[in-house]
Amino acid sequence: MPRPIFFAACSIISCLALLTSAAFDMSRPDNVAMYWGQKSKSSVPLAELCKNPNVNIVPIGFVSNYFPDNSSMKFNMADNCDAEHFACQALEPDIESCQQQGKIMLISLGGGDQPTPWQFADKGQAEAFAKLLYNSFLGGNDPKVTRPFGKAVLDGIDIDLENGQSDHFDEMIAAVQAAAKSNGDQKKYWVTGAPQCARPEPHLETALKTVSFDALFVQFYNNDCGLDSHADMSRFNFAAWHDLMQSSGVNKATKLYIGAPANSSEGSHYVDSPVLQKYIEATWANYSSAFGGVMLWDAYGAKGRCPVYV
Ligand SMILES: *[C@@H]1O[C@H](CO)[C@@H](O)[C@H](O)[C@H]1NC(C)=O
Ligand SMILES: *[C@@H]1O[C@H](CO)[C@@H](O)[C@H](O)[C@H]1NC(C)=O
Ligand SMILES: *[C@@H]1O[C@H](CO)[C@@H](O)[C@H](O)[C@H]1NC(C)=O
Repeated sequence: MPRPIFFAACSIISCLALLTSAAFDMSRPDNVAMYWGQKSKSSVPLAELCKNPNVNIVPIGFVSNYFPDNSSMKFNMADNCDAEHFACQALEPDIESCQQQGKIMLISLGGGDQPTPWQFADKGQAEAFAKLLYNSFLGGNDPKVTRPFGKAVLDGIDIDLENGQSDHFDEMIAAVQAAAKSNGDQKKYWVTGAPQCARPEPHLETALKTVSFDALFVQFYNNDCGLDSHADMSRFNFAAWHDLMQSSGVNKATKLYIGAPANSSEGSHYVDSPVLQKYIEATWANYSSAFGGVMLWDAYGAKGRCPVYV
């Protein structure tokens, strides 16, 4: 696989442009994951985001909590739709069109604005949530469950807990897979996570050692181990993440992404594109088989910045 070049000089806007592959392929080193859903629809409609061939993975956020007492969940999508009442069916054609354009669409659990900590008390709660998740967003068809995106079937689950703990998430994922199997559903559901770069991770540590992740979008921002505008890599701990997956990861082939703020307004440790390209190249040079690409938080900030991502 050749050196992953994400940024190339652009003649029209006299700065850099994002330049990666068109279709998602988990084995490539140049995927771009871009979160969507927490900022105003007036900035980047989903359909517009998906016209961008550079974007390969769209985690949609967030399911911010699960309520075991009434088997319900808190779903939040800013003003993109009435997520509180699971009324986002207008997005069904946009999601399907994104998929037809070769992107994978994930439902993201957690987020930075979780009202109460996420905590499955036991396996039973994890399994009950798995059924709700499968029927709400994936291939399930329980008539008692409202599907927020209508018939659109998302491509997997992203775990981005920023409050609470990830105990029993392995049982939750296993129960999603079991629900699919008993439904005769052969679709591949991807499992990703978005840990803070801090070691140990404050919320996902259990999941990191028990869940088989296809990819981790490690957040190299809002933490001391984050990116540095001078490309000083002394605190950048990608190596620790690589070592963790090799020593304790369930899936030794988990792809690791460099997660970065798309815009200086969206997190500390923002770096511009030439600096991000330096991180990409240094990381890829050491870890060419584990390196999977870049995650950007989020589509809204990506639109505002120069270089223009969206
Ligand atoms: C379920 O319980 C939670 C927490 O008490 C509450 O906020 C939510 O509104 C309830 N949902 C439904 C559908 O009753
Ligand atoms: C790559 O490996 C070299 C040699 O071990 C090390 O000095 C450097 O910090 C590593 N860079 C990254 C980004 O991991
Ligand atoms: C961040 O986003 C805002 C709003 O979209 C935009 O005005 C600003 O220029 C962006 N910042 C950078 C560094 O691009």
